[in-house]
Amino acid sequence: MRTPKQEPKIAGGGGDSARVFSGYHESVLPGEVVEALRPGEGKLYIDGTLGGGGHASLLLEAGASVIGFDQDEEALEEAGKKLEKYGERFRSVRTNFRVAGEVLEGLGVRDVDGVLLDVGVSSRQLDAGGRGFSFRENGPLDMRMDRRSPVTAESVVNGETQERLSEIFREYGEEPMAAKVAARIVQVRESRRLETTFDLVEAVGSVIPKRGPRHPATKVFQALRVAVNDELGSLKEGLEGFVPFLAGGGRMAVITFHSLEDRIVKRFFKERSAPEIDRPEWAQARPNPLYSFRLITSSPVAATAAEVSKNPRSRSAKLRVAEKLPRKP
Ligand SMILES: C[S@@+](CC[C@H](N)C(=O)[O-])C[C@H]1O[C@@H](n2cnc3c(N)ncnc32)[C@H](O)[C@@H]1O
Repeated sequence: MRTPKQEPKIAGGGGDSARVFSGYHESVLPGEVVEALRPGEGKLYIDGTLGGGGHASLLLEAGASVIGFDQDEEALEEAGKKLEKYGERFRSVRTNFRVAGEVLEGLGVRDVDGVLLDVGVSSRQLDAGGRGFSFRENGPLDMRMDRRSPVTAESVVNGETQERLSEIFREYGEEPMAAKVAARIVQVRESRRLETTFDLVEAVGSVIPKRGPRHPATKVFQALRVAVNDELGSLKEGLEGFVPFLAGGGRMAVITFHSLEDRIVKRFFKERSAPEIDRPEWAQARPNPLYSFRLITSSPVAATAAEVSKNPRSRSAKLRVAEKLPRKP
């Protein structure tokens, strides 16, 4: 059997010709995604994070069919307009990919040739002041990707205990001043609710001084977004949920943007790509009951310098790919 290290590296696909910008969102690592998923006529893919439909359009352009998921109805509308020209080869469903299993079961879909997850928010969501994701725009403290959800950034900031807020900022934002920011928020909300992004920026700015190019509220905003949308929980459940629907030889490609997400994907693939597990207390290694993938990328693929210069958002993108093993007879 070939080891993952002998696999050709997926890299260098993101040149000029591969640039995919819909005016809604510029897709990251477009060439690398195509190289990893190998789309072609008669193949079926699930794009779990449709966004502006950029990656999906590359799969469709190669002749494949795509079922796109997104929990944001604006994304689905936008992608729908862009991709309707592919007729029945494109379908979309408004859903969180964490329940992918139920949705695919309901659609009667099995044995898909590939799954793509490009997690986090799109440029459009981030830039639209009204969505509350950005510390640069004043808007309601919302941050929901799915506007049907009852949990907003406003409800978290005004409703959670000081301890929980501190934990959110520390764990999801890796913010060293987490405890101080939480204490300041609790102090402010004794006199009034924090309702807008600028209310939060002001509270954060009063305890974190501006140092260097990064905005002082960057990590706090990231942490809140992760908490409001339960992004890490969705990723864990989504990865798991897609497994039974992948055909043998089908591939899963996952793009993440921060270390907490990448750690989840790395562990998920690692746990499933070792034929055996060994523990010091065991006399010998035992078969791994989760063994179901082989790694295609032994380390994550990053954007080339050329892509980063054109699309700065790709700077922190990491792509990991694994291939489903054939089902046991
Ligand atoms: C980075 S964008 C995807 C961009 C897309 N790949 C493209 O090329 O245009 C992420 C999208 O995934 C959606 N999303 C994020 N997490 C999701 C989840 N758990 N379930 C469904 N959609 C999700 C967001 O609403 C957003 O539209």
